[in-house]
Amino acid sequence: MRIALAGKGGAGKTTIAATLARLLASDGFDVVAIDADSNPNLASALGVATDDANQAPHALPSSIVSRRLDGPGLKDGVDAVLAAHGVVAPDGVRLAHMGMPAHADEGCMCAAHATVSSLLADLGDRPRGMTIVDMEASPEHLSRGTARHVDLLLLVAEPYYRALETARRLAALAAQLPIARVAVVANKVRGEADGEVITAFCERHDLELLAVVPWGEEVLDADAARQPLVEAAASGPVVAAVRRLVAALGLPDAGAVPQADAIAGRHGPR
Ligand SMILES: Nc1ncnc2c1ncn2[C@@H]1O[C@H](COP(=O)(O)OP(=O)(O)OP(=O)(O)O)[C@@H](O)[C@H]1O
Ligand SMILES: [Mg+2]
Repeated sequence: MRIALAGKGGAGKTTIAATLARLLASDGFDVVAIDADSNPNLASALGVATDDANQAPHALPSSIVSRRLDGPGLKDGVDAVLAAHGVVAPDGVRLAHMGMPAHADEGCMCAAHATVSSLLADLGDRPRGMTIVDMEASPEHLSRGTARHVDLLLLVAEPYYRALETARRLAALAAQLPIARVAVVANKVRGEADGEVITAFCERHDLELLAVVPWGEEVLDADAARQPLVEAAASGPVVAAVRRLVAALGLPDAGAVPQADAIAGRHGPR
């Protein structure tokens, strides 16, 4: 399953994406995380030592994509691409990175978006495979169709009007793409009143509310300590809420899914 997280700036996309990826990987899924934000932060949220030059992810080059008759596609298999251009985060999460502008006045990021889109297309149908895409706070991934190949779009929203309005607009764009399921994840919820605001908004706009994540001081502490939340506060309420989100996905037990690619085979054939 390929899951993308979108939403207003600062809503908590990266925090939830990283926690989701680590929890799924420790549950035995073969997790690929894609930082599709041109201002990338997913590596450090996952626990990659980005100060180490060998660990710092580099951008996926557009040369990995070829134009085929049926549209752009990867020249090599996903595993080869990730081995060459990704890094491995704790729990075996493989991370790829869309990249950021190398300099000011660089122009558009069309090639970078097409590259992510091709990788996403080829990441479907992996046994025990889960893909988590951390998107940037703009509708660009939807307006360009970069996210067309995801199976589930999670709209991360804080309980205030402008964040919810952003989620509603993104849902309307997503409805024009072949994305099977779109759902809201409420984040930074401080109490019942916040929960009611989000529930009412989702009901009014016919949006599925899949999970509610509370405000947690431990998220800020983990951030300040530059530690992944899942390590810094494994038993805290925010990680517990992301575990409930995993449960709400209704995934088969990773151990029950045919194991075409053992850990030795995390880098094996798709
Ligand atoms: N549940 C939470 N409780 C408290 N703080 C949170 C929570 N979730 C995220 N934060 C904090 O909110 C800030 C933004 O989080 P994060 O970087 O995950 O958001 P984002 O949506 O990825 O942002 P951007 O749009 O810049 O990519 C960070 O300081 C993070 O620590
Ligand atoms: Mg982010």
